[in-house]
Amino acid sequence: MTERRPFVGGNWKMNLDLASSVELAEDITAGLGPLEIECDVVLCPPYPYLQAVGHALKHHCLGLGGQDVSEHSGGAHTGEVAASMLLDLGAQWVIIGHSERRHGLHETDQLVAKKVAHALESGLHVVLCCGETAEERSAERTEEVTTRQITAGLAGIAAEDLSRLVIAYEPVWAIGTGVTPSVEDAEKVHGSLRSLVSRLYDPRFASDLRIIYGGSMKASNAGEFIASPEIDGGLIGGASLKSADFLEICRSIGRILEA
Ligand code: 13P
Repeated sequence: MTERRPFVGGNWKMNLDLASSVELAEDITAGLGPLEIECDVVLCPPYPYLQAVGHALKHHCLGLGGQDVSEHSGGAHTGEVAASMLLDLGAQWVIIGHSERRHGLHETDQLVAKKVAHALESGLHVVLCCGETAEERSAERTEEVTTRQITAGLAGIAAEDLSRLVIAYEPVWAIGTGVTPSVEDAEKVHGSLRSLVSRLYDPRFASDLRIIYGGSMKASNAGEFIASPEIDGGLIGGASLKSADFLEICRSIGRILEA
């Protein structure tokens, strides 16, 4: 981990219910202690629970995030949620381009780009996800795919807005499988993404940008990922659903910060 402020996101996906979402948020705030001011800890519950979880985070420094957002600002878009609505509920963050939306719901690079631009324009902070499938990895196309996804996702984004954006590298084959790349392999991708941002903008913006890892990150492996100077934190799925597991991941960051 470097000088960049660490970021840990809990992507709760379509899990939990209202009562357990609030309980989880309360347990996390109770257990975090001073870490809540030393790193960005952002909880991303399903849309219907945003307000209640936001309420549980009141008087704390944790962030609240949506798991997706519409590219439109409002109007006749049944089932969609606008950036202004997330802001209304107290969210500051949104995850965009998660592989479960790119692959499960056929979101294209162009749609992801529109969402990123609209979310940033609206004042949200964005976690922009990228990652290769198992087939793409076997074909040694990881760099090509992640470069394409991030180049498209950042199209038209002003350099000044990059301070409100975090890139999450989430290999699709590592999500929910218990399998992860080696730290060295993840570092290689993070390094190539940072060089890409340096080419697209300039080295100063690239060196300030946080690039986090996601995919089967848990208490037992978070420390080694986060200890890498290229890895600025994690986007956690399964292990964010239990306060003890999520807190242990946050504490690995605390231990590294103290070292
Ligand atoms: P898991 O941590 O369950 O592998 O999920 C990662 C993820 O998709 C976070 O966005």
